Amino acid sequence: AIPLRHWAQRRDIQFGTAIDMEPLRRESDYRARAGMEFSMLTPANAMKMDALQPARGEFYWSDADELVNFAESHAQRVHGHTLVWHRQVPKWLETGTWSRDELLHLLREHIFTVVGRYRGRVQLWDVVNEALNDDGSRRPSFWQRGIGPDYIEKAFRWAHEADPTAILIYNDYNAEDLGVKSNAVYEMLRDLKAQGVPVHGVGFQMHVTVRQLPNVKDFQANLKRLADLGLELHVTELDVRIPLPATPESLSQQAKDYQKIFDAAMAFPQLRSFSLWGFTDRHSWIPHEFKGYGAGLIWDEHDQPKPAFSALQEAL
Ligand code: XIL
Repeated sequence: AIPLRHWAQRRDIQFGTAIDMEPLRRESDYRARAGMEFSMLTPANAMKMDALQPARGEFYWSDADELVNFAESHAQRVHGHTLVWHRQVPKWLETGTWSRDELLHLLREHIFTVVGRYRGRVQLWDVVNEALNDDGSRRPSFWQRGIGPDYIEKAFRWAHEADPTAILIYNDYNAEDLGVKSNAVYEMLRDLKAQGVPVHGVGFQMHVTVRQLPNVKDFQANLKRLADLGLELHVTELDVRIPLPATPESLSQQAKDYQKIFDAAMAFPQLRSFSLWGFTDRHSWIPHEFKGYGAGLIWDEHDQPKPAFSALQEAL
């Protein structure tokens, strides 16, 4: 069959997936599919701060390097994930006592070291991930508490300085639909742009539940106002989870849901990438994180293509 990335290329978008390092090393099928079907890879964990800087000033590069090398040898782009997040902050950092100046220094060093190392090789960075609560307020994260609200603009400015060619995005979940959270994302990005902060796009994670998609009209109205700010649009972490056990009906509904999301987003020329949070149900974060749910991706546990695969193939 013709790989999905081929069709994505014809539509002039990147078609991506998150990648786990274990199966990438150990499973030849996983490796082959990752290399063949996608044009962009996002490390699921290998570029998070706890993975990259396990001790102060000591960086662990093996996994991230391997991912970047793999992508380059398959003519793929890399989506760096993520520079600033409230989760997977290293223990040494989270449990320490720091002044605001020390935290600014640590964050700056981290961003310069990581973005600088992959300058020109990571084309898209999630600079800040999940900075807002569902009610639109600022999440009182480690960074927000220690630095204050300006950690966000600082992170973007430093990332841009470290690699002026990289596309820098703000990434979040539950921000697709119109509502208080997406309003807050919109206002934050509007203000950052107005202040000349180098933010180039917005990422929608889209960890959704089958049959419970955001309303297409509202989703598109939201995409429109963000695109009108001059921002690129990216679907960054799509999976469509199903209550287990999956049935023929839920699998076919899931296929429709994948197609619906793709078509809604693809209506915008500003859509630059469309990524899944993994591709095989053998390796998915869903069953670990959402009790009773699973089967969120497009190949099943036995690595057979699901109806959602055919739906995406058609939509692409
Ligand atoms: C998840 C990974 O897939 C898991 O392996 C890890 O245990 C927790 O994080 N939003 C994000 C991703 O931005 O970083 C998360 O990835 C999924 C939710």
